[in-house]
Amino acid sequence: MKERAESMDIAVVGAGYVGLTTGVALAYLGHRVTCIDVDTAKIETLRQGRCPIYETGLQELLELVRHRLEFTDSYSPIRQARIVFIAVGTPGLPDGSPDLSQLEKAAWAIGMHLGEDFTVVVNKSTVPIGSGNWVEALIREAYRSRNGRSADGQFAVASKPEFLREGSALRDTLYPDRVVVGAEHPEALKTLYTLYRPILEQTFPAPAFLPRPEGLGAIPFVATDLASAELIKYAANAFLALKISFINEIAALAEKVGADITQVARGIGLDGRIGTRFLQAGIGWGGSCFGKDTAALLATAREYGLTMPIVEAARQVNYRQRERVVERLLEELKILKGKTIGLLGLAFKPHTDDLRDAPSLDIAKRLMARGAWVRAHDPVALDRARRERPELQLQYCERAEDVFDGADAVMLVTEWPQYRNLPWEELAGKMRVPLIFDGRNFLDPERLARAGFRHLRIGVGSPTLTTA
Ligand code: UDX
Repeated sequence: MKERAESMDIAVVGAGYVGLTTGVALAYLGHRVTCIDVDTAKIETLRQGRCPIYETGLQELLELVRHRLEFTDSYSPIRQARIVFIAVGTPGLPDGSPDLSQLEKAAWAIGMHLGEDFTVVVNKSTVPIGSGNWVEALIREAYRSRNGRSADGQFAVASKPEFLREGSALRDTLYPDRVVVGAEHPEALKTLYTLYRPILEQTFPAPAFLPRPEGLGAIPFVATDLASAELIKYAANAFLALKISFINEIAALAEKVGADITQVARGIGLDGRIGTRFLQAGIGWGGSCFGKDTAALLATAREYGLTMPIVEAARQVNYRQRERVVERLLEELKILKGKTIGLLGLAFKPHTDDLRDAPSLDIAKRLMARGAWVRAHDPVALDRARRERPELQLQYCERAEDVFDGADAVMLVTEWPQYRNLPWEELAGKMRVPLIFDGRNFLDPERLARAGFRHLRIGVGSPTLTTA
């Protein structure tokens, strides 16, 4: 299957987290990439060399490979492309199933603009199982309507599920755990193997600001049929989500029996069959994937008359966790009405400004519904919160220190590294009550105790008592 690396013309439809990261990374590997998006404001920003999202290293890499990247709202570059990636959004609908309208539009546009040479259309959007075939049918239909003849032999559809995490999107793209490709057409498989070979064999020079992880060997290439690749994506996310919910469920018991969930997680995680990652107890998962993908998996199962009680339970535990932390705060403060609660962090995780399904917003709403005043800080997500969630009426603080002013409690929601080294002694003195609820078990208990804080943690039975 080996073939010499060559520079290819690639089009990426959808310039969001996945599309943009893919486009920039492939340009870095030496390909000529055109990113296509219907959002003209976003295209304009990118043309000016600015990255519209906050993602570690993306701006730097974008500048480095600018000469191999084009940004446009026109689909015509698809004509020259040997590979077309689809990376459009598939947001969840109220019934849990994903909204496929953007995917449908993208597939139709690809069919309308397909060139004469064989093109591999690669789906990276997270789509219900069977969508590969649907995308193929749409492209075929569009091609026929435009050219009056069949698209036989002109293209093949493949699936390349995306496992990148926001905040470490480039690192996950350049140094992945595995590359999964679902392709039933041998030419499509061969083309994608060639494309990913520098990543599989790690033969590209690592960017200075994204060094190759030490000891990284060859990356496994998993070639499957289309349906299996599509299911791998959902199953991976559901499994990670349930791992987190599992540890949060155990954490609730740990609090009651006086155990420490961090020790429990380490104790079980070191069993190689379980693994230590994604066993970090806290306020639960958020973000654009776990909630949406577990709901979509349940919706697919329903279509086939199946229930998935384990996945359902993972969701219930997760969303219940947001209420539990508020209840625990209520237990501590007795009354929330009129109290001031500070939130450290709004983004659903550090190193991103993404607020989709962020636990912070849910927690803020619940606190406000009980009459509390909520103020919040985030190093990068404040503007986005103001813009995207104007109904929230949160008081936004530009400096982390300001959330402590006269507060009755401060809750750490997002584990931004800079929060670890706040001037705790000074901050304790600014609060009405020096109470910190560490929703990510992230802060140093001894340091906080020395500063005079009562420090509540998730899944830790006895709070660190103030020494003051
Ligand atoms: C996830 C998957 O990890 C990734 O493979 C897929 O492509 C997209 O969905 P992402 O949502 O970007 O990535 O972030 P991730 O790092 O997985 O975190 C998701 C949520 O789980 C965050 O809210 C995070 O705070 C939370 N989390 C993660 C925990 O609560 N505990 C953990 O141990 C790990």
